[in-house]
Amino acid sequence: MIKKIGVLTSGGDSPGMNACIRAIVRTAIYNGIEVIGFIRGYEGLINNNFIELKRESVSGIIQKGGTFLKTARSERFKTIEGLKLAIQNLKNNAVDGLIIIGGDGSFKGAIELSKHVNLPIIGCAGTIDNDLVGTDFTIGYDTAINTAVEAIDKIRDTAESHDRIFVVEVMGRDAGLIALRSAIASGAEAILVPEIKNNIDDLILKIKNWRSSKSSKIIVVAEGDESGGAFKVGEIIKTHCPEFDLRVSILGHIQRGGNPTCMERVNASIIGFNAVKALINKQSNQMVGIINKQIVFTPFEKAIKHHQTLNKDLVELIDVLSS
Ligand code: F6P
Repeated sequence: MIKKIGVLTSGGDSPGMNACIRAIVRTAIYNGIEVIGFIRGYEGLINNNFIELKRESVSGIIQKGGTFLKTARSERFKTIEGLKLAIQNLKNNAVDGLIIIGGDGSFKGAIELSKHVNLPIIGCAGTIDNDLVGTDFTIGYDTAINTAVEAIDKIRDTAESHDRIFVVEVMGRDAGLIALRSAIASGAEAILVPEIKNNIDDLILKIKNWRSSKSSKIIVVAEGDESGGAFKVGEIIKTHCPEFDLRVSILGHIQRGGNPTCMERVNASIIGFNAVKALINKQSNQMVGIINKQIVFTPFEKAIKHHQTLNKDLVELIDVLSS
């Protein structure tokens, strides 16, 4: 029987992580389980840095961005020494279940941990990139795309006033999913994403053929695109189309912050609640996700192995609707 669980947030923070922690803590306590929260992800496990979490510890956090448990990309956890310390601390604290909120790097850590210790581990998909298989929306993605759209709308105002092309870079180290949705929702004219090989000639042709009644044009570039980012794309376009006035804007880390959207808070709560239930049901090494409104469990290996595929119809939609 599970008596005490640990929870941590790891990797890049994402809006909704706090809502997920709150759901985990309250669901566990409701079921008579103690909770401790490790500070700064796997670093907290290694340093034995944790806090006891009570019902009131998670009051007033559902609406807040970031993660109140703090997070880190722990290099030490990738070493055998770090791993050993983490395992020792889990044993010393009599933790008999662990919930990890994070993305692919965090789940790689979970897989490593599970090879060395017999401890049930459940993952909650938390990353703005949405680049995990086994859930429609990772915790943070909905807020990030809304933040990106709000920013691009503002860029559109100034682009329109100056008759400019803007190349806007959004986050997404390996995935173009933030680019895809934010481009559709902001009426962008083109996108460049890592999942699709760029054809610069096509892009240039497209720019040259854009109808003259369009005074502003927005090209959304995912950070991980093969072009090497918005500045490089901007340079290429300037070389081929010097007749256009062009500016580059990199949205950066504003996409990681901010109050989670309603959908985010609800999804994060559902995921946290089900993560605790999974531990109670003796499940392990799986990520909780929501697909078509149903709770789905995906083994860590599968969740991190494949990225969600980019819906090519949505890419076509951008072309058609911006024509
Ligand atoms: O994984 C989420 C993410 O925001 C990526 O989109 C981005 O490439 C990366 O994190 C940036 O990480 P950091 O804040 O550690 O530089």
